[in-house]
Amino acid sequence: MTSEPSPPGEDTLPWVEKYRPQTLNDLVSHKEITETIERFIDEGRLPHLLLYGPAGTGKTSTILACARKLYGPQWKSMIMELNASDERGIDVVREQVKTFASTRKIFNTGFKLIILDEADAMTTQAQNALRRIVEKYTQNVRFCIICNYVSKIIPALQSRCTRFRFSPLEMDQVKKRLETVIETEGVNITEDGKQALLTLSNGDMRRALNILQACHAAYDLTDEAAVYNCTGNPLPTDIHYILRTMMKEEFTTAYSKIMRLKTEKGLALQDVIFEVYKDVVKYKLSKKARVYLLEKLAEIEYRLTTGASEKIQVTAMLGAFKTMLDLTGGNADEVMADTDAGDYRFGNIPRTDNVRDSVSSLTLLSRIPSYNNEFPSTRMTESKLPVWVGEGNRKLGID
Ligand SMILES: Nc1ncnc2c1ncn2[C@@H]1O[C@H](COP(=O)(O)OP(=O)(O)OP(=O)(O)O)[C@@H](O)[C@H]1O
Ligand SMILES: [Mg+2]
Repeated sequence: MTSEPSPPGEDTLPWVEKYRPQTLNDLVSHKEITETIERFIDEGRLPHLLLYGPAGTGKTSTILACARKLYGPQWKSMIMELNASDERGIDVVREQVKTFASTRKIFNTGFKLIILDEADAMTTQAQNALRRIVEKYTQNVRFCIICNYVSKIIPALQSRCTRFRFSPLEMDQVKKRLETVIETEGVNITEDGKQALLTLSNGDMRRALNILQACHAAYDLTDEAAVYNCTGNPLPTDIHYILRTMMKEEFTTAYSKIMRLKTEKGLALQDVIFEVYKDVVKYKLSKKARVYLLEKLAEIEYRLTTGASEKIQVTAMLGAFKTMLDLTGGNADEVMADTDAGDYRFGNIPRTDNVRDSVSSLTLLSRIPSYNNEFPSTRMTESKLPVWVGEGNRKLGID
């Protein structure tokens, strides 16, 4: 956490930028990695680096903090940063990167730093062109290659770098950082709101901060319902309702109830499947029934990604649950005994009266002033926007 007061104009910054760690100590996670890199820097023997891992885990922040530590206030003149928004084809590698790498700064004995952020989007050709440059100019520069999917980096480049994997942040680490932001910004948040944020963030600090900022802009009180509404993710109570409906109601009634809930709450089936799955793995089932159900859910999820009709897929999901029940021969209550849906009081469609149900994601987005302005220092590419409407396009896992 930066202790310096924010410069003027920072109030309009998205919080992910406002609270971007400035020093290696500000990073709340991956202490082993930051300590190792810090040691390399102190001993003056920094190798070429390859940082990889899922989104929002601090890769870019780490290398920028390193640059500040290495070069002090003049760090910007000593680095060349190229990310997915820059042209990085083979020509750029051959000309710009090579020129930067081959020249030395007068009066400066150290090396410069070339940061190739989001390098998984670079073509193989461009990566191949880098092979020799990385070796030849080691005297003058160090390369830092950053990506989400390490498999997209050619093996020859990987072997020239020291690899560090940034795993998703642990709940406690996200919580610690969130609490600092909550306090500094004076966010009115409940304990269950915090918990929902942590669950939805999935170890992605950027996502957690983005949701928090959107909720703060949209609601006076950020509670569990506000958080779920903000992202368009189904509330746990909605999921329990769906599960019990599928298990207990007759096919057509269940279908119409689920469709009604989906329409009223604007739920995406892909998100429902993702959440339903978490409960289903806890069901008491025979092997055959479990495998059957999981396979069907996987199939439905796949079909949805290829643009299948949601209505038909809802019936497919219902069918899968009904057949699973037949295969178990058990009764629904027994199967669900160990899950939260088992304890859930089954009734009408769960209501969330304390939040405006139909706040659209775009309305939320537009309430953050900085999203409306062009903000050159914030490289918000489409993939960096939080998943506001729960379209299921989460960036999950790596490799
Ligand atoms: N370890 C961390 N400690 C504190 N804040 C973090 C950490 N990781 C991420 N953040 C927050 O999340 C934001 C995004 O982090 P960063 O840009 O470093 O992620 P990244 O790993 O480069 O993600 P991507 O792969 O999407 O580029 C930062 O501005 C910061 O506010
Ligand atoms: Mg990054």
